[in-house]
Amino acid sequence: MNRKVSESIVETVHIVRPNHLNGAERLFGGILMQWIDEVAALAAKRHSHRNVITASVDDLRFLKGAYQKDVIVIRGKVTYVGRTSMEVKVDSYVENIDGERVLINRAYFTMVALDGSDRPVEVPGLELTTDEERQEWERAKQRRGIRIHRKDNF
Ligand SMILES: CC(C)(COP(=O)(O)OP(=O)(O)OC[C@H]1O[C@@H](n2cnc3c(N)ncnc32)[C@H](O)[C@@H]1OP(=O)(O)O)[C@@H](O)C(=O)NCCC(=O)NCCS
Repeated sequence: MNRKVSESIVETVHIVRPNHLNGAERLFGGILMQWIDEVAALAAKRHSHRNVITASVDDLRFLKGAYQKDVIVIRGKVTYVGRTSMEVKVDSYVENIDGERVLINRAYFTMVALDGSDRPVEVPGLELTTDEERQEWERAKQRRGIRIHRKDNF
Protein backbone atom coordinates (compact mmCIF):
# COMPACT_ATOMS: atom_id res chain seq x y z
CA MET A 1 0.00 0.00 0.00
CA ASN A 2 1.36 3.42 -0.96
CA ARG A 3 1.48 6.26 1.55
CA LYS A 4 1.35 9.98 0.87
CA VAL A 5 4.28 12.30 1.57
CA SER A 6 2.01 14.27 3.90
CA GLU A 7 1.50 11.19 6.10
CA SER A 8 5.21 11.17 6.95
CA ILE A 9 5.55 14.83 7.97
CA VAL A 10 7.04 15.37 11.43
CA GLU A 11 7.58 18.72 13.11
CA THR A 12 9.33 19.22 16.44
CA VAL A 13 10.04 22.40 18.38
CA HIS A 14 12.93 23.11 20.75
CA ILE A 15 14.04 26.15 22.70
CA VAL A 16 17.79 26.75 22.77
CA ARG A 17 18.86 26.54 26.42
CA PRO A 18 22.25 27.27 28.05
CA ASN A 19 23.22 23.56 28.01
CA HIS A 20 22.73 23.49 24.18
CA LEU A 21 25.41 26.13 23.52
CA ASN A 22 29.00 25.73 22.33
CA GLY A 23 31.97 27.90 23.37
CA ALA A 24 30.91 30.55 20.85
CA GLU A 25 27.50 30.90 22.56
CA ARG A 26 25.74 29.33 19.57
CA LEU A 27 23.63 26.19 19.37
CA PHE A 28 26.10 23.27 19.39
CA GLY A 29 26.01 21.47 16.03
CA GLY A 30 25.97 18.03 17.66
CA ILE A 31 22.76 18.84 19.53
CA LEU A 32 21.04 19.94 16.33
CA MET A 33 22.27 16.77 14.60
CA GLN A 34 20.66 14.66 17.33
CA TRP A 35 17.38 16.54 16.97
CA ILE A 36 17.30 16.22 13.19
CA ASP A 37 18.24 12.53 13.31
CA GLU A 38 15.26 11.93 15.61
CA VAL A 39 12.93 13.77 13.20
CA ALA A 40 14.28 11.77 10.24
CA ALA A 41 13.68 8.51 12.11
CA LEU A 42 10.13 9.53 13.08
CA ALA A 43 9.25 10.52 9.50
CA ALA A 44 10.64 7.23 8.17
CA LYS A 45 8.70 5.28 10.83
CA ARG A 46 5.49 7.09 9.90
CA HIS A 47 6.01 6.06 6.29
CA SER A 48 7.16 2.49 6.82
CA HIS A 49 5.48 1.55 10.11
CA ARG A 50 8.78 -0.18 10.93
CA ASN A 51 11.81 0.34 13.07
CA VAL A 52 14.40 2.25 11.08
CA ILE A 53 18.10 3.04 11.17
CA THR A 54 20.13 5.87 9.73
CA ALA A 55 22.27 4.59 6.85
CA SER A 56 23.74 7.93 5.78
CA VAL A 57 23.31 11.67 5.89
CA ASP A 58 24.27 13.91 3.04
CA ASP A 59 24.31 17.60 2.26
CA LEU A 60 24.14 18.48 5.95
CA ARG A 61 24.49 22.25 5.83
CA PHE A 62 24.66 24.71 8.67
CA LEU A 63 23.41 27.87 6.97
CA LYS A 64 23.01 30.14 10.00
CA GLY A 65 23.71 30.03 13.73
CA ALA A 66 21.10 29.86 16.48
CA TYR A 67 21.38 31.40 19.92
CA GLN A 68 20.03 31.05 23.44
CA LYS A 69 16.22 31.35 23.68
CA ASP A 70 15.79 30.87 19.91
CA VAL A 71 12.83 28.69 18.95
CA ILE A 72 14.00 25.91 16.63
CA VAL A 73 11.42 24.22 14.39
CA ILE A 74 12.52 21.02 12.69
CA ARG A 75 10.43 19.61 9.86
CA GLY A 76 11.02 16.29 8.12
CA LYS A 77 9.26 14.41 5.35
CA VAL A 78 9.90 11.41 3.14
CA THR A 79 10.89 12.54 -0.35
CA TYR A 80 11.83 9.26 -2.02
CA VAL A 81 11.63 5.55 -1.39
CA GLY A 82 13.73 2.73 -2.78
CA ARG A 83 13.14 -0.92 -1.94
CA THR A 84 14.08 -0.83 1.75
CA SER A 85 15.39 2.72 2.11
CA MET A 86 13.73 6.11 2.35
CA GLU A 87 15.15 9.56 1.81
CA VAL A 88 13.99 12.06 4.44
CA LYS A 89 14.53 15.77 3.89
CA VAL A 90 14.93 17.64 7.17
CA ASP A 91 14.78 21.43 7.33
CA SER A 92 15.51 23.37 10.53
CA TYR A 93 14.36 26.91 11.14
CA VAL A 94 14.57 29.63 13.74
CA GLU A 95 11.00 30.84 14.23
CA ASN A 96 10.68 34.45 15.34
CA ILE A 97 7.94 35.97 17.47
CA ASP A 98 5.81 36.77 14.38
CA GLY A 99 5.94 33.15 13.27
CA GLU A 100 8.37 33.87 10.44
CA ARG A 101 10.79 30.99 9.84
CA VAL A 102 14.42 31.41 8.79
CA LEU A 103 16.09 28.28 7.40
CA ILE A 104 19.24 27.46 9.38
CA ASN A 105 19.96 23.87 8.35
CA ARG A 106 19.04 21.35 5.68
CA ALA A 107 19.98 17.68 5.50
CA TYR A 108 19.01 14.58 3.54
CA PHE A 109 18.90 11.33 5.50
CA THR A 110 18.78 7.82 4.13
CA MET A 111 16.83 5.65 6.55
CA VAL A 112 16.47 1.88 6.19
CA ALA A 113 13.45 -0.06 7.46
CA LEU A 114 14.16 -3.20 9.50
CA ASP A 115 12.13 -6.35 10.05
CA GLY A 116 11.82 -8.16 13.38
CA SER A 117 15.27 -9.71 12.84
CA ASP A 118 16.90 -6.33 12.12
CA ARG A 119 17.23 -7.05 8.40
CA PRO A 120 16.33 -4.47 5.72
CA VAL A 121 12.71 -4.91 4.69
CA GLU A 122 10.60 -3.49 1.85
CA VAL A 123 8.83 -0.19 2.45
CA PRO A 124 5.51 1.06 1.01
CA GLY A 125 5.58 3.14 -2.16
CA LEU A 126 5.31 6.92 -2.00
CA GLU A 127 2.22 8.60 -3.43
CA LEU A 128 3.15 11.95 -4.95
CA THR A 129 0.27 14.40 -4.97
CA THR A 130 1.85 17.77 -5.83
CA ASP A 131 4.27 19.11 -8.45
CA GLU A 132 6.68 20.02 -5.67
CA GLU A 133 6.68 16.41 -4.44
CA ARG A 134 7.27 15.14 -7.98
CA GLN A 135 10.20 17.56 -8.45
CA GLU A 136 11.64 16.55 -5.08
CA TRP A 137 11.38 12.89 -6.09
CA GLU A 138 13.33 13.54 -9.30
CA ARG A 139 16.05 15.42 -7.39
CA ALA A 140 16.15 12.65 -4.78
CA LYS A 141 16.66 10.07 -7.53
CA GLN A 142 19.78 11.98 -8.60
CA ARG A 143 21.00 12.19 -5.01
CA ARG A 144 20.48 8.43 -4.64
CA GLY A 145 22.64 7.83 -7.73
CA ILE A 146 25.43 9.94 -6.21
CA ARG A 147 25.07 8.13 -2.88
CA ILE A 148 25.33 4.70 -4.46
CA HIS A 149 28.40 5.83 -6.43
CA ARG A 150 29.99 7.16 -3.22
CA LYS A 151 29.14 3.98 -1.32
CA ASP A 152 30.70 1.81 -4.04
CA ASN A 153 33.88 3.95 -3.87
CA PHE A 154 34.06 4.21 -0.07
C1 LIG B 1 22.28 0.47 6.62
C2 LIG B 1 22.61 -1.02 6.55
C3 LIG B 1 21.44 -1.82 7.11
C4 LIG B 1 22.78 -1.36 5.09
O1 LIG B 1 23.22 -2.69 5.05
P1 LIG B 1 23.55 -3.39 3.63
O2 LIG B 1 24.13 -4.71 3.90
O3 LIG B 1 24.28 -2.41 2.76
O4 LIG B 1 22.09 -3.63 3.12
P2 LIG B 1 21.52 -3.51 1.67
O5 LIG B 1 22.60 -3.63 0.64
O6 LIG B 1 20.36 -4.48 1.60
O7 LIG B 1 20.98 -2.03 1.63
C5 LIG B 1 19.74 -1.69 2.20
C6 LIG B 1 19.34 -0.33 1.68
O8 LIG B 1 20.21 0.63 2.26
C7 LIG B 1 20.78 1.44 1.24
N1 LIG B 1 22.10 1.81 1.71
C8 LIG B 1 23.04 0.99 2.23
N2 LIG B 1 24.12 1.71 2.57
C9 LIG B 1 23.85 3.01 2.26
C10 LIG B 1 24.57 4.22 2.39
N3 LIG B 1 25.80 4.28 2.87
N4 LIG B 1 23.97 5.37 1.96
C11 LIG B 1 22.72 5.34 1.47
N5 LIG B 1 21.99 4.21 1.33
C12 LIG B 1 22.56 3.06 1.73
C13 LIG B 1 20.82 0.54 0.02
O9 LIG B 1 20.89 1.32 -1.16
C14 LIG B 1 19.50 -0.18 0.16
O10 LIG B 1 18.45 0.65 -0.26
P3 LIG B 1 17.23 0.10 -1.21
O11 LIG B 1 16.74 -1.18 -0.60
O12 LIG B 1 16.20 1.17 -1.15
O13 LIG B 1 17.80 -0.09 -2.58
C15 LIG B 1 23.91 -1.36 7.34
O14 LIG B 1 25.02 -0.74 6.71
C16 LIG B 1 23.86 -0.98 8.79
O15 LIG B 1 23.24 -1.67 9.60
N6 LIG B 1 24.52 0.12 9.16
C17 LIG B 1 24.51 0.62 10.53
C18 LIG B 1 23.34 1.58 10.72
C19 LIG B 1 23.27 2.13 12.12
O16 LIG B 1 23.60 1.47 13.07
N7 LIG B 1 22.82 3.36 12.21
C20 LIG B 1 22.71 4.05 13.44
C21 LIG B 1 23.59 5.24 13.40
S1 LIG B 1 24.81 5.23 14.65
